[in-house]
Amino acid sequence: MPGSSLPEDSSPDADKKGFLPCVSRRQFLFMGAAAASLIALERVIPGRILYAQSATFERQRIASLSDLEEGVPVTFNYPYDHPSALNNLIKLGAPAGGGIGPDNDIVAFNTVCPHMGFPLNGTYKPDHQMMGPCGWHLSTYDLTRHGIIVSGHATQGLPQITLELEGDDIYATGVQALIFGFNDNEQAPTDG
Ligand code: FES
Repeated sequence: MPGSSLPEDSSPDADKKGFLPCVSRRQFLFMGAAAASLIALERVIPGRILYAQSATFERQRIASLSDLEEGVPVTFNYPYDHPSALNNLIKLGAPAGGGIGPDNDIVAFNTVCPHMGFPLNGTYKPDHQMMGPCGWHLSTYDLTRHGIIVSGHATQGLPQITLELEGDDIYATGVQALIFGFNDNEQAPTDG
């Protein structure tokens, strides 16, 4: 009837229409281009897209379990003798992600702030098992939870050093995130 409103869609699919994903043509094309770029990158650098920031190295003995004191960091270089590869080995006194030892509380982290490179060596807070705050933009990292950011400007956690225990010997075996200032953990620096 002229002037009357259209009847509601009573087709069987009418209920489903409200649940269709709202993706515009532009968004659809963008998602397709992004997926194609990732596939192309994977062909150029096979296996590097997901794993570029993690690396395994020849293991290096860094300390004796019996020498560690709770809350007292031991400083060591790994995987290179380079200022950006300076790390702390710490017995936290609380269970930690990636922790080794009888109490799963021994961890190691790189001590260069991943935000802009401020040196964090000497900033460990044993009462809270935190590293920081960073002297430049106040980032603080929780060492019981793989070095995640608790506060501050950084967008990446502290690189954790993977550890192994063999008898009384503690070994470093790898680095779990990109070290500040490196393009690739596996590429030995030429400076420093
Ligand atoms: S350099 Fe550490 S938060 Fe910016």
